[in-house]
Amino acid sequence: MKKRVTKAVFPIAGLGTRFLPATKSIPKEILTLVDRPLIQYAVDEARAAGIKEFIFVTSRGKSALEDYFDTAPILEASLRKKKKTDLLATLKETNMESGRIAYVRQNEALGLGHAVWCARRLIGDEPFAVILPDDVIAAEKPCLQQMVEAHEVTGGNILATMEVAPDKASSYGVLDVADDMGSVVSVKGMVEKPAPGTQPSNLAVIGRYILTPAIMRHLNKKSVGVGGEIQLTDAIATEIAANEGSVFGFRFAGHRFDCGSKAGFLQATVALALAREDLRDEFLPYVAAQVGGEMPAATRARAAS
Ligand code: UTP
Repeated sequence: MKKRVTKAVFPIAGLGTRFLPATKSIPKEILTLVDRPLIQYAVDEARAAGIKEFIFVTSRGKSALEDYFDTAPILEASLRKKKKTDLLATLKETNMESGRIAYVRQNEALGLGHAVWCARRLIGDEPFAVILPDDVIAAEKPCLQQMVEAHEVTGGNILATMEVAPDKASSYGVLDVADDMGSVVSVKGMVEKPAPGTQPSNLAVIGRYILTPAIMRHLNKKSVGVGGEIQLTDAIATEIAANEGSVFGFRFAGHRFDCGSKAGFLQATVALALAREDLRDEFLPYVAAQVGGEMPAATRARAAS
């Protein structure tokens, strides 16, 4: 019988240099899209997919994240006293039950593969999800939930994938496809950051994975790959070679924002704000005016009233 996926690893030990100077003292994962930090989107997506144990791989300077998931008794008491029940409910959604959340330390940023490996003892002999909070995915059905459902059919390892332009492929791990079955593709190889023009397909892997414990065993070897880092991609490629038919790409339904980059973060901010009923009417006229576009008539009428 296939084991259910109930554990998720959130590697958040990176330095976040693309957001300096902000990330000099604020973890990247606390940066805020509209009114919620990046990490909250990732945790909500995991909860929706049935994840029960949340493992954060952290590093020096990330303690704000640990505080974020604690209860905040003084704040809660103040909101209760002022009868701000909506805000109180919003605040309580951020609390994580003790024992369901664990922090392991990556004491040196040796790469994503190494960060995942740091969680090996908490994962044990079970399939597990990996979520990179930098990748925010707007979707009707949360991306990891789609993957968990696909995993119930395929088993093995599933990697969220999307088509990218050929000139962008060298920024990603890229799949070598054996059989394209539509939303699921079986994979015969995987290359991290292929040199321009050498990518085996235009299917890039983004920050959602469901992995088998075998991947941890490959990571035990601590092989150093592209960029001098211990790459998760290399461990997955080793598994493909060792166990044919055990790795699948999954074309998720939804839109992925690369919030590890400034442009992606700004796009996500605009898209998520425009999707919010409480902000849309106020924000859309501003955005439309900035780009010189036409506002929808209904919005124009509301803005004028
Ligand atoms: P990135 O490649 O985006 O690196 O890592 P980064 O340090 O976060 O950001 P920049 O490039 O310096 O701006 C992708 C994910 O892998 C984690 C990061 O925290 C991020 O979630 N990671 C990366 C680790 O946890 N440990 C590492 O050694 C490397």
